[in-house]
Amino acid sequence: MKTFGKHIVISSFIILLLSFSTVLAKINKDKDCLKCHPTFYKKLVKKNIHEPFKEKKCNSCHKFHGFQNKIAFKDEIIILCNNCHNVLENTDEENYHAPIVDDLSCVNCHSPHSSDLQKLLKEPVSTLCADCHDTEDEDFKKLHVVDFEIKLCVSCHNPHGSNNETFLYADQHPPFEERECATCHEDRTIEELKSPELCLECHDQPEPTGVHSKKRISDKSCISCHSPHILKK
Ligand code: HEC
Ligand code: HEC
Ligand code: HEC
Ligand code: HEC
Ligand code: HEC
Ligand code: HEC
Ligand code: HEC
Ligand code: HEC
Ligand code: HEC
Repeated sequence: MKTFGKHIVISSFIILLLSFSTVLAKINKDKDCLKCHPTFYKKLVKKNIHEPFKEKKCNSCHKFHGFQNKIAFKDEIIILCNNCHNVLENTDEENYHAPIVDDLSCVNCHSPHSSDLQKLLKEPVSTLCADCHDTEDEDFKKLHVVDFEIKLCVSCHNPHGSNNETFLYADQHPPFEERECATCHEDRTIEELKSPELCLECHDQPEPTGVHSKKRISDKSCISCHSPHILKK
């Protein structure tokens, strides 16, 4: 009789626990954040709005916090973001850019909700990369040959990482890929560097048809359409 009573106590406890967790699960499923927190959307919304946030699908990333009353996630941030994005698709894990593998991962640089900046960035590229990389360092300067604006980092490097050396984008222009920087950069003024003459040292003047018709390329330098470093981006 004694053990029977114990069983009853234990099973009712289990039933109670089970129904409690179903209730919690139901709340998580049915009641969205905005039902209990009607001001959150307005508080977090800025100019450029992330699609799932705009559609008020908070539950695609968050789960109900229960009694803890603080933010809770369905999964690790990197996994949440990768559920819908494939920016790391062609990249081996050991070649992920370092900030991506810490806890904040993607939200080190992006807002998950909205931003006044393009690409949902938290901070403009023109300062972002220099927060963590010393662009005044002598070795850095030597490797990069010329002084340049920080916002241009992402014209050569993939901010997410890549299997290429130092995360450079694939499809590099051969003399860049061979690191023959001097071929173009040495002893040239900025004007000479930007002139079609440079390109025509190795390339024939393109036929004036199609993409290079007179109308299209008149007065334009080759680099207004072609990057001298990364051919396709
Ligand atoms: C059943 C109602 C309910 C639901 C659903 C709910 N919360 Fe809460 N939440 C509360 C209560 C109650 C508190 C504690 C009181 C307070 O601070 O508003 C709280 C506190 C919070 C806090 C900390 C206080 C603050 O204002 O910053 C955050 C963050 C939060 N909730 C986020 C969420 C998110 C995200 C969701 C959706 C996944 C969510 N909540 C769903 C009731 C709810
Ligand atoms: C794409 C995933 C995603 C969606 C969708 C999303 N959130 Fe978030 N949310 C996050 C992440 C990640 C953080 C942590 C941000 C950080 O630490 O910088 C966060 C943080 C928060 C915070 C804490 C305050 C803050 O700004 O860090 C609140 C409140 C919140 N979210 C509410 C919401 C509400 C309400 C919705 C739906 C209208 C929503 N979120 C939709 C991913 C998301
Ligand atoms: C439920 C699906 C979903 C989840 C989860 C999600 N996103 Fe998105 N995201 C979208 C959609 C849809 C768009 C708009 C279409 C596009 O540009 O791919 C978008 C757009 C973006 C853009 C802007 C692209 C541009 O060109 O302006 C960035 C950056 C971004 N998401 C980052 C994130 C980050 C960081 C996370 C994780 C916190 C995340 N996303 C989670 C669906 C999602
Ligand atoms: C170190 C900062 C940083 C981190 C961490 C980061 N991103 Fe980005 N992301 C950027 C920058 C900068 C751009 C804009 C690149 C450009 O304009 O060429 C960008 C662009 C994007 C875009 C727009 C499409 C594209 O390729 O241009 C998406 C989507 C995106 N990131 C998703 C993510 C996801 C998902 C994660 C996490 C796995 C993540 N980002 C982590 C800096 C970052
Ligand atoms: C939150 C800090 C942080 C931010 C922001 C950041 N990085 Fe990084 N980055 C690192 C760390 C840490 C490493 C790995 C250590 C190292 O090699 O310096 C790294 C590595 C790199 C590498 C590879 C270096 C190598 O030797 O292989 C490149 C290239 C790079 N980052 C470019 C960028 C660019 C471009 C941006 C801006 C879009 C950026 N980083 C923003 C922290 C950051
Ligand atoms: C014109 C293309 C180009 C631009 C723009 C560029 N890089 Fe680089 N970066 C390179 C090349 C090429 C290397 C050397 C690769 C090699 O041969 O190892 C390099 C190397 C690096 C390295 C690894 C070497 C080191 O000093 O640790 C980092 C980190 C880096 N760049 C970050 C940045 C940041 C941050 C910016 C923007 C301020 C930037 N790069 C802009 C082409 C570029
Ligand atoms: C085929 C010729 C050519 C080669 C090879 C070349 N560059 Fe450039 N580079 C240019 C031209 C042209 C510009 C000016 C681009 C502009 O103003 O739009 C430039 C500009 C730059 C800039 C300024 C930022 C930018 O993207 O405009 C950096 C940094 C740079 N080059 C680094 C390098 C490095 C490092 C190498 C070798 C790994 C290299 N370049 C090889 C032609 C070349
Ligand atoms: C030092 C020699 C050299 C210089 C200078 C040079 N290139 Fe190239 N470029 C090459 C080589 C080699 C290839 C690969 C073979 C080919 O397709 O012609 C190439 C390929 C290309 C391609 C791709 C061709 C294709 O079939 O897809 C384009 C576009 C291009 N270069 C544009 C330029 C522009 C624009 C400039 C001036 C900024 C320039 N190049 C300067 C050597 C050079
Ligand atoms: C108005 C934009 C524009 C200008 C200016 C321009 N190109 Fe192109 N070019 C293109 C496009 C678009 C393509 C085809 C797309 C692709 O395959 O990358 C192309 C393709 C090429 C190719 C590879 C295909 C082929 O025709 O052999 C070379 C090499 C090339 N351009 C060189 C040059 C040179 C050198 C100049 C300067 C004298 C120049 N281009 C000026 C837009 C331009």
